[in-house]
Amino acid sequence: MSDLAAQFRETFATSAEGVWAAPGRINLIGEHTDYNDGFALPIALPHTLTVAAARRDDGRVRLRSHQFPEPHGFSLEGLAPGSVPEGAAYQAGALWALLEEGHGIGGLDLLVDSTIPAGSGLSTSAALCCATVLAATGLYGREPAPAEVARLAQRAENDFVGMPCGIMDQSAVMLAEQGRALFLDCRSSATGSEPFDLAAQGMSLLVVDTKAPRRLVEGAYAQRRASCEEAARVLGVAALREISGPDLEQALDRLPEGPMRARVRHVVTENDRVLRSVELLRSGRLREVGPLLTASHVSLRDDYEVSVAEVDTAVEAALSAGALGARITGGGFGGCVIALVDSEQVRACSDAVRAAFAGRGFGAPEVFTALPSAGARRLR
Ligand code: GLA
Repeated sequence: MSDLAAQFRETFATSAEGVWAAPGRINLIGEHTDYNDGFALPIALPHTLTVAAARRDDGRVRLRSHQFPEPHGFSLEGLAPGSVPEGAAYQAGALWALLEEGHGIGGLDLLVDSTIPAGSGLSTSAALCCATVLAATGLYGREPAPAEVARLAQRAENDFVGMPCGIMDQSAVMLAEQGRALFLDCRSSATGSEPFDLAAQGMSLLVVDTKAPRRLVEGAYAQRRASCEEAARVLGVAALREISGPDLEQALDRLPEGPMRARVRHVVTENDRVLRSVELLRSGRLREVGPLLTASHVSLRDDYEVSVAEVDTAVEAALSAGALGARITGGGFGGCVIALVDSEQVRACSDAVRAAFAGRGFGAPEVFTALPSAGARRLR
């Protein structure tokens, strides 16, 4: 990345007072479980979003971004959901959440650059909200603890942007560590730092950005969430997390026939797959996580119904070229696939995915390998 502080000076004719970086994330397993108080196992990507910032003394905020050339400006006074254009909502929401909770922040100039592929479900939005919270609190007060930054960033998305997401993305952005996977218990907020040393075990994690247009994402996401909450209500539990594997069949019998049963089956079996994956990581049996990834995909495709043709094509192609396991990652309806592969198979799997896309007439996917990387941090 070129020097963001120098670009900041060119853009705003003043010096940046600090620069912060926040990574994108992929979730290894534990999808659509976070808002059910369940378990997830994400890592941070090496790709980061960077924010350079300086204070202003007039209570105004100016936003510039290399990815979205349209400039935005607004006043902190009177900031409310719906009061800024969509392109400014994530950052405005992060500042709004801070103000709502009594953080004494003032005006800011903010310049954003990012190497996280945008619109691919790799949590650019969580990185943007987290980095903005860090910049504002870093310059105006004291940075809250990382888990608190994650919660504020989630509040920005939930209550300002209107996206009813869970806490998985923001937690990964803030709490992930290099070479480790982050085990999240979304009920107790307990976290675990789990061994995930791919290289030591001769394995690689392939990421396929399918570039499939992510349409209807928010509406369909909100519907899935509402369906889970309704199921929990019918079953008399606070969240689906409370239904465990042995209770599943009995619970399903108590639900109306139709999609709700399938949604619950996904959530309950997915929580179980996360716990089994964590056990395998802890005992150094990474290879055996592969089949759990594939089982997660099948469940997300058939029971949770969040996959699309491009995603299924990538999963199938990677598996037939020898991947140990593959699945959709993130919220779904497009986005990325991950595949766990022996390192010598990276080439064959990547080629197979590209060929399968060409064969089906899909646009070319982006394929890369990712190592588990560090969470958000101040760069200078
Ligand atoms: C999106 C949301 C997360 C999580 C995932 C699905 O990424 O932002 O909170 O629910 O979808 O696991």
